[in-house]
Amino acid sequence: MGFVLAAAGSAVGLGNLWGFAYRASQGGGGAFVLLYVLIVLAVCLPVLVAEMVLGRSTGHAPLIAPVTAGGRGWRPLGWLFLASAVGILSYYAVLMGWTGRSLLHALMDPLPADIAGAEAYFKGISSGGDAVLGHLVSLALTGAVVAAGVRAGIERLTRWAMPLLFLMLLGLLIWAAFLPAAREGYGTFLLRWDASKLSDPATIRNAFTQAFFSIGTGIGAILAYAAYLDRHSGIPGEAAAVVGMDTAVGLMAGCVTFPVVASFGLGDVVSGSTVGALFIALPTGLASLGAAGRVVAVVFFLLAYLAAITSAVSLLEVPASSLIDRLGWSRPRAVWLCVAAIAVLGLPSALNVSVLERMDALFGGVLLIAGGLAMALLLGWRAPRRYRADLEGSGSPPQLVGALLFALRWVSPPAIAVGLVVSVIDLARSWAG
Ligand code: PHE
Repeated sequence: MGFVLAAAGSAVGLGNLWGFAYRASQGGGGAFVLLYVLIVLAVCLPVLVAEMVLGRSTGHAPLIAPVTAGGRGWRPLGWLFLASAVGILSYYAVLMGWTGRSLLHALMDPLPADIAGAEAYFKGISSGGDAVLGHLVSLALTGAVVAAGVRAGIERLTRWAMPLLFLMLLGLLIWAAFLPAAREGYGTFLLRWDASKLSDPATIRNAFTQAFFSIGTGIGAILAYAAYLDRHSGIPGEAAAVVGMDTAVGLMAGCVTFPVVASFGLGDVVSGSTVGALFIALPTGLASLGAAGRVVAVVFFLLAYLAAITSAVSLLEVPASSLIDRLGWSRPRAVWLCVAAIAVLGLPSALNVSVLERMDALFGGVLLIAGGLAMALLLGWRAPRRYRADLEGSGSPPQLVGALLFALRWVSPPAIAVGLVVSVIDLARSWAG
């Protein structure tokens, strides 16, 4: 149970609350949602199982586990995990800072009265000293949890944070369903069907990125937790639980955000689709509800901050456990060194939103998907016996293991390869233009 909650804590994060709304609003509609769910089930789930097997069967940190399973030729994969985790955390902490700042703001001051006010306010929190401070404080909190250890820090946090988060989200979901334009919100952003979007490169890139980022597989974060897992737990069931919770939270968050957007006429702000959309649209929409709106804003940003910190700790665990495992460092020393390096690396994102967007596209998109592809190749083709032996040894039925292995060999790699190529081309095009 501790593992499932910790892994779900890693999966459920700003990717579900902010990323889903951000990407779903870019025009893909129902095609985006469908592709996203299909990729999660057919492509990411077998890879997540592979990642858990890699952690449990080697007992090593992400830097070393690929070498143990695949030999020296797989060393670059360990470095890819480290680079992606460090790169993502460097801007993720900035987003956490914005979230924390929005929470404090909603607690202390009235919400911005109109879009112009919200935009000005957002400029304030996303640049200069405020952004840097939020980034540093968020990293320090993350470091404190990870320094306390996996059991005493990470599991203790996720045990109460995850159920609380789920309850708050459920409350908001019900509240949003009664907003005047709730149906219109679901309809415009989540259900509108346009089959041509299925082959639109931007929709495909969004769906792949959202699936991999939101589950957080392909980077070694869940691998690092699985290294502590005992030999008896049924990995496929646990992976399915994590994927189920993660997808549910993503969809639920969309069902909170879009009714707000539609009901308060904020469609333009959101489809302008900068990373700030949620931070601008949500407070503005809620402002028109007076005190009740402020309560909702506080709950939402509190929930988002909790979700974010349980994800950030798993990202930090990747480099920290690798230093501990590889160099024999003490946990606090490894953690605080990583925090210091990531703090510096994140400064450009804290100071400039377009740097943050690029970091997200590169580390949270392309590198993460590439790591997922390599993970599928490692356990599907290089070490399939390890996959089979670990799962059957812990009591999974052979037919289930056979089906998962089939998907890992024949479904995930070609699908991810296509997703990766489309993503790289679409990204290059969007950066060029
Ligand atoms: N899944 C997390 C989120 O949705 C982010 C994350 C990515 C965590 C990769 C771990 C690894 O916010």
